[in-house]
Amino acid sequence: MVGSKAYNVVRIAKFGPIRAIRSLSQTARVFSSSSSNIGSSEPQFTHFGSQTVPKDEKEKLVGNVFSSVASKYDIMNDVMSLGIHRCWKDRFINKLDAGKRPNSTEPLHFIDVAGGSGDIAFGLLDHAEEKFHDTTSTMDIVDINADMLKEGEKRALNQKKYFNDSRVRFLVQNGETLDQIKSNSKDIYTVSFGIRNFTNIQAGLDTAYRVLKPGGIFYCLEFSKIENPVIDVVYQQWSKVLPVMGSFIANDHDSYQYLVESIERFPDQETFKSMIEKSGFQCAGYESLTFGTCAIHWGVKV
Ligand SMILES: C[S@@+](CC[C@H](N)C(=O)[O-])C[C@H]1O[C@@H](n2cnc3c(N)ncnc32)[C@H](O)[C@@H]1O
Repeated sequence: MVGSKAYNVVRIAKFGPIRAIRSLSQTARVFSSSSSNIGSSEPQFTHFGSQTVPKDEKEKLVGNVFSSVASKYDIMNDVMSLGIHRCWKDRFINKLDAGKRPNSTEPLHFIDVAGGSGDIAFGLLDHAEEKFHDTTSTMDIVDINADMLKEGEKRALNQKKYFNDSRVRFLVQNGETLDQIKSNSKDIYTVSFGIRNFTNIQAGLDTAYRVLKPGGIFYCLEFSKIENPVIDVVYQQWSKVLPVMGSFIANDHDSYQYLVESIERFPDQETFKSMIEKSGFQCAGYESLTFGTCAIHWGVKV
């Protein structure tokens, strides 16, 4: 069993996760998979940035943040990350390397969670088409915030691609429950810079596990912990400037203060990897980007 596991990890490293799906599906029965239960003894409070708030209020507060930043989201991302978020997203899409292979008759079913801006979803579909001539795979772009989804739809309309496209659906959905998404229905689950905003991250991971088919891949891009202490000092200084920039560019200091604090509170690479495993995923791993500013995390449902 250990040998099989190691073999599959090697396959992922060598061929990319997609090509490893088949072999993982075939060996699925040798692994035990279990979803974690969210205990009923959970505290009734959670964090919202550096504040402690009642759990049932966090969703609304996060909603306010993203409604507030939605129309300036792209420009702020560029300013805040000095444009580097585009490289991170490119790396994320290229590393996943997803798309229906020419010798396959089955389209892939993607879900991009917290995907409001459409960046990742459209990038994944473009990659599948450009590299694999895949024009049949489907994409659900889901986000808890209708204003963010509207930005994604606007982008689709402007680029005259993926708007009114029967392959693409935009759905208002909470990533913690995804109640309109059937269990075992998706091949690829992506979430980019979204999961740290969930009130219950573990519930989001359990749901990712639920909606994926056996052999399906969980793939996440999220801010992480900087591994080099010197770079970390520089980054901490930069973080202090971000809310000020938020005031100038988007007239919104508080939302950007929340974004910085939510990044600080998100677990480090190893802790998040354990959470992915706790939800039942196998072959979990991660790649730190730009000194650990953010990381790509993955896991496979077997
Ligand atoms: C920083 S944006 C990321 C957008 C896009 N994925 C990207 O990489 O550019 C975070 C997104 O997470 C969404 N979000 C926050 N909590 C959510 C939840 N519980 N379920 C689904 N989406 C959520 C927000 O509405 C927002 O659109």
